[in-house]
Amino acid sequence: MADTVMLIGFMGAGKTTVGQQLAQATSQKFLDLDDEFVKETKTTINDFMADHGEDGFRKMETSILKNRLQSPGVISTGGGIIESEINREIIQNSDATVIFLQADFATVLQRLSADTDRPLLRKLSMKELLDRWELRQPLYGQVANAVVMTNGKAPSKIVNELVNLLEFPDDSLTELRSQIDSLDRQILRLISQRIDVVKEVADIKKHNNISVVQHNRMDQIRMELKSEFLGDGNISDDFIDELVSLLTASAIDKENKMIG
Ligand code: S3P
Repeated sequence: MADTVMLIGFMGAGKTTVGQQLAQATSQKFLDLDDEFVKETKTTINDFMADHGEDGFRKMETSILKNRLQSPGVISTGGGIIESEINREIIQNSDATVIFLQADFATVLQRLSADTDRPLLRKLSMKELLDRWELRQPLYGQVANAVVMTNGKAPSKIVNELVNLLEFPDDSLTELRSQIDSLDRQILRLISQRIDVVKEVADIKKHNNISVVQHNRMDQIRMELKSEFLGDGNISDDFIDELVSLLTASAIDKENKMIG
């Protein structure tokens, strides 16, 4: 895994919760820049902003970012860290792998509905908050190495995605998984074609009064499949037995329904 992983995103995107769990899952240290801010200034962000305004907060935030940036492990950031150009430069020039946890505005509102700690939530109208959200989206994208959508996902699911992403940064895992998904679809399409043929067989049996199951035929095909497919070590004896049983069961069911 990268030495430093930095999570960015709007308030309520899950940076802190996901960051803590990601650090635990990967046995890394976790650092929350908002907590560092509180430690350093010995006051709450609410009080600090009330005394020094948002500009004062941003200046202090920059100094904390600079000091903590090289800390190995998982770092979660405040949602507005990317608003200042200096911060964006610092982040982009760092060695950290920067991940944008994205959440749509409705999700953000829902997650923050009961929050009383965040000064901007108190201060800004809904329209102003939406404006901030819109303003920041491209800025997060500008500095991020990767984007992970968090809407409707449990933190554990997001953590799993992040672990994969960090383990396979060139995204080869995603590519291979999509190949598997496409093969699965082909398999299902073939099974569906098989059932179309079964229906034609059922029609012939119905008109000629032939019994549905012919056990010898199935034993014969199992043997043929095994001699053909066991060789490469990918497919086991049991797998062939189970697959043939499954295909046969569904075919018999279909035939019985059609023949009555
Ligand atoms: C802020 C987000 C907060 C905190 C401060 C300002 C912002 O962090 O840094 O209240 O400007 O969006 P979270 O994103 O962790 O809530």
